Amino acid sequence: MRFVFLGLPGAGKGTQARILSERLDIPALSTGDTLRQAVQDGTPVGIEARTYMDRGEYVPDGVMVHMVEERLQEPDATKGFILDGFPRTVPQARALEEALGHDATPLDAVLQFRISDGIAIRRIVGRYTCPVCKRTYHQEWRPPASDMACDVDGAQLEKRNDEDALTVKRRLAVYRDQSEPLEAFYAERELLRSVDATAPLTDVSERMFEALRDLL
Ligand code: AP5
Repeated sequence: MRFVFLGLPGAGKGTQARILSERLDIPALSTGDTLRQAVQDGTPVGIEARTYMDRGEYVPDGVMVHMVEERLQEPDATKGFILDGFPRTVPQARALEEALGHDATPLDAVLQFRISDGIAIRRIVGRYTCPVCKRTYHQEWRPPASDMACDVDGAQLEKRNDEDALTVKRRLAVYRDQSEPLEAFYAERELLRSVDATAPLTDVSERMFEALRDLL
């Protein structure tokens, strides 16, 4: 199975991608996590990406397409994948279509997680992330069992550099401008499915499985 997850920053794409990945035993590939790792490692891609990410803007298409094409060549992606955060622009979507077309392995579905701007901001401003396993927590809706430590590996939870209210507003505006056109792009190809993601986490998971029921 090959899925793309779309939705505003904070819509819950990463959270739900992890759940679907465990259920189907296919990798969830988060371009945001890959970029943050590159920034942390100080690689050339990381150094270039950081300036865009800290401003809440998109990293150039050429960098992203190259990164994802390479990742899709890895053995664990041959049995399927969930792309969380890619494509984010129409040129990226066209490049993905072309790359998958070469392998004769088209996408099965594109799942769009719908929330309001207000909920997106509350979710991001309250989010904490484990630097080791990348699991996310929320101070109000999904707190860790013990204060500021990951439930799984005990690492100290962190805030991301792009989570202040001003940068989040910029990210929402960039999404509307550059990513919203993807909804029409995938609707035309009859791949788009939509989930109301405003509900509590477990309810959103149920809606996700329901939306994909015929494929799972
Ligand atoms: P990325 O890391 O992909 O950020 P994003 O898409 O903006 O999405 P988020 O990670 O903020 O949110 P999410 O939808 O995954 O929500 P989550 O599950 O964490 O990208 C970061 C940056 O990298 C971009 O701005 C850009 O610069 C660059 N980049 C990445 N890909 C790129 C590309 N293809 N092209 C160009 N640039 C690219 O949930 C959020 C919070 O809410 C968590 O705390 C969670 O616990 C909580 N939560 C989740 N679901 C629920 C629920 N149902 N109820 C209550 N709380 C919930």
